[in-house]
Amino acid sequence: MSRNYYMAGNWKMHMTRTEAAQLAQDLVSQLRDGKHKYLVAPSFTLLETVSAMIEGTNIQLGAQNCAAEEQGAHTGEVSVLQLKDLGVHTIILGHSERRHVYKEDDALINKKVKLALKHGFEVILCIGELLEEREAGKVEEVCEAQTVKGLEGVSVADLGSVVIAYEPVWAIGTGKTATPQDAEAVHAFVRKVIARLYGDDAASKIVIQYGGSVKADNAAQLMAMENIDGALVGGASLKADSFIPIAKFA
Ligand code: PGA
Repeated sequence: MSRNYYMAGNWKMHMTRTEAAQLAQDLVSQLRDGKHKYLVAPSFTLLETVSAMIEGTNIQLGAQNCAAEEQGAHTGEVSVLQLKDLGVHTIILGHSERRHVYKEDDALINKKVKLALKHGFEVILCIGELLEEREAGKVEEVCEAQTVKGLEGVSVADLGSVVIAYEPVWAIGTGKTATPQDAEAVHAFVRKVIARLYGDDAASKIVIQYGGSVKADNAAQLMAMENIDGALVGGASLKADSFIPIAKFA
């Protein structure tokens, strides 16, 4: 199988520039010999600082969101053009906090996905069900709809710049991880959805990360699953001591 593991840290709304620079420096030195693909996604205000620290290393720079419009009168928003200017490589879109706290719907997320791809970014499209949706037996329905709607109008060529992150909402920041078997079942299902939309070749190549309380002591079991190709890590990505063992899982 040709997919490389992709280990990403979503720093969410944490850290000042000094703290971010220190963490980035620690990651650069400790991941230098790392064998996987790496990404950190700090707040917008930290991008320039972190960009300078990781430039030319094996760690890529990610943003946690972008505006749905290229530029203009959009107070408080950040444009893809501004992110490009800061050296951002990847944009995380459709994170559950954006969907459920800030009420972003699939149409808005899809608009952002297409805009980011048009400007040459890699996109990490997050999907995942709420606890009540899992309990109602709707995991596949929800994940399929978020995948199909999130990727509407995305060409097979552009799909090469898309990563999917399956993050069951009930597992985010709660300490409850999906079991490797439960996560694998959803990853395999999402890969089938991609195969139906884009063909078997595209489906076999797309990287599907798992996210939701990934820690050093569960990363290896999750990554051992056939269809789990990496992790999107929140809480445990905020300290080098907790992120490095995940990023270098054995
Ligand atoms: P967590 O967050 O690792 O703190 O559960 C994951 C995420 O929201 O991407």
